[in-house]
Amino acid sequence: MILRAGIAADIEAMVSLHATGFETGWGTPTLAEFVHSDFVIVAGEPISGFIVARKALDEAEIITLVVDPAAQRAGQGHALLTHLMSKLLKAGVDRIFLEVACDNVAAIGLYKTAGFSQIGLRKAYYQRASGPACDALVMSKQVA
Ligand SMILES: CC(C)(COP(=O)(O)OP(=O)(O)OC[C@H]1O[C@@H](n2cnc3c(N)ncnc32)[C@H](O)[C@@H]1OP(=O)(O)O)[C@@H](O)C(=O)NCCC(=O)NCCS
Repeated sequence: MILRAGIAADIEAMVSLHATGFETGWGTPTLAEFVHSDFVIVAGEPISGFIVARKALDEAEIITLVVDPAAQRAGQGHALLTHLMSKLLKAGVDRIFLEVACDNVAAIGLYKTAGFSQIGLRKAYYQRASGPACDALVMSKQVA
């Protein structure tokens, strides 16, 4: 599987992919803000998934991860996460955090498989057009 750093030419494809995974997809300005950071990894050619993190001193937060529905359950999410974690570790990160909707079985399964555990709960964190707001699990993993 091809994994590489995201570049400006990927933004359009990333916007489309993001919309497949989230009720409120990221637009071009948001992705343009992140794409030049060291912690945007894309998978596939043409790209079929990507992950974005931001780093602050020795901590990092995974801020989005999405895999094309047609490419899911084939290990791409795990590969993106593992590659990102090793990059963050090399960049001096000790601990990684993330938030995930409590009904997102696929993502929670992926993060648990990768060694993340729940450290908190944010009540009614995700507003939903389709129903009541959903809690967020706050998850964390010590990487160093
Ligand atoms: C979450 C997501 C990125 C997973 O990507 P993926 O490429 O399908 O994941 P993988 O194939 O690498 O799966 C790795 C592990 O995650 C778990 N997992 C993945 N999909 C799952 C599902 N539908 N149900 C239960 N567990 C699942 C399993 O433990 C799986 O390991 P296994 O296949 O050996 O059982 C993908 O479902 C997605 O893009 N969802 C929409 C966007 C989203 O929710 N992003 C996360 C926001 S926090």
